[in-house]
Amino acid sequence: MSESNVILVTGATSGIGAATAKAFAAAGHRVVLAGRRADKGLAVVDAIRAEGGEATFFPADVSNPEEVQSLVDKTLETYGRLDAAFNNAGVEGDTLVPFHEQSAENYRHVFDVNVEAVLNCMKAQVPAMLQSGGGAIVNNASIAGLVGFNGMSVYGASKHAVIGLTRNAALEYAQQGIRVNAVAPGPIETEMYDRFANDEVREQINTMVPMGRSGTAEEVASAVVWLADPANSYTTGQVIAVDGGFTAQ
Ligand SMILES: NC(=O)c1ccc[n+]([C@@H]2O[C@H](COP(=O)([O-])OP(=O)(O)OC[C@H]3O[C@@H](n4cnc5c(N)ncnc54)[C@H](O)[C@@H]3O)[C@@H](O)[C@H]2O)c1
Repeated sequence: MSESNVILVTGATSGIGAATAKAFAAAGHRVVLAGRRADKGLAVVDAIRAEGGEATFFPADVSNPEEVQSLVDKTLETYGRLDAAFNNAGVEGDTLVPFHEQSAENYRHVFDVNVEAVLNCMKAQVPAMLQSGGGAIVNNASIAGLVGFNGMSVYGASKHAVIGLTRNAALEYAQQGIRVNAVAPGPIETEMYDRFANDEVREQINTMVPMGRSGTAEEVASAVVWLADPANSYTTGQVIAVDGGFTAQ
């Protein structure tokens, strides 16, 4: 991006969110980090400031609509505008559980955080972006939002829904200056991946990926920064897989 924009990143306390907050800051932007774990969020802010970047952490549980609205309000109070948002916070829920054994509690939790929270984030972000003439939203989906996987039924359905929200919002705001896109990461080395993939599972997954390896949070961050860049002024409603070629097969 050519000028210092104000960027909001949810789930910024770890993994892809933390790496993306750092990437936006390194590109010269002012970054608002949101998450539930203040100690970790403040540590990312310190790391950004140590490199000369500008960042602020606000605690927020994205599954709470009031906290999401307050987050956007505080962003506007602090920096006066919102240019881009990365709706990244997500949970994997109960993975490797057979379809017919998935619980209603797991469905509700996964859809609350992965789908309804993304909708609520966009509902709060769009008016703020319209105030300043437009902006860019990037949602974090998954390759599990593009194709099916054994044992990931509820998570996969939630990520298909994120892609649905992305495409529909893109159409609604296409003439109002707001672009809405998604990234669909493949296996990425983060706390989430650690939770469901031991060394043996990692080896199996690597054999399924054309590049033969998992990705890094920084490799996803690059795609998010690219999608949010106003230079990509004709790119909207797209889902960019960052997956070592997995979905090209
Ligand atoms: N790691 C992968 O292989 C992979 C692959 C595809 C998609 N993703 C997606 O990437 C995103 C980031 O995950 P990650 O891999 O960096 O793992 P992660 O667990 O490090 O990050 C998820 C972040 O979301 C936060 N979060 C969860 N619920 C929240 C809530 N209610 N309110 C606020 N924050 C909340 C967590 O605290 C955490 O910081 C998720 O949406 C995930 O589904 C990850």
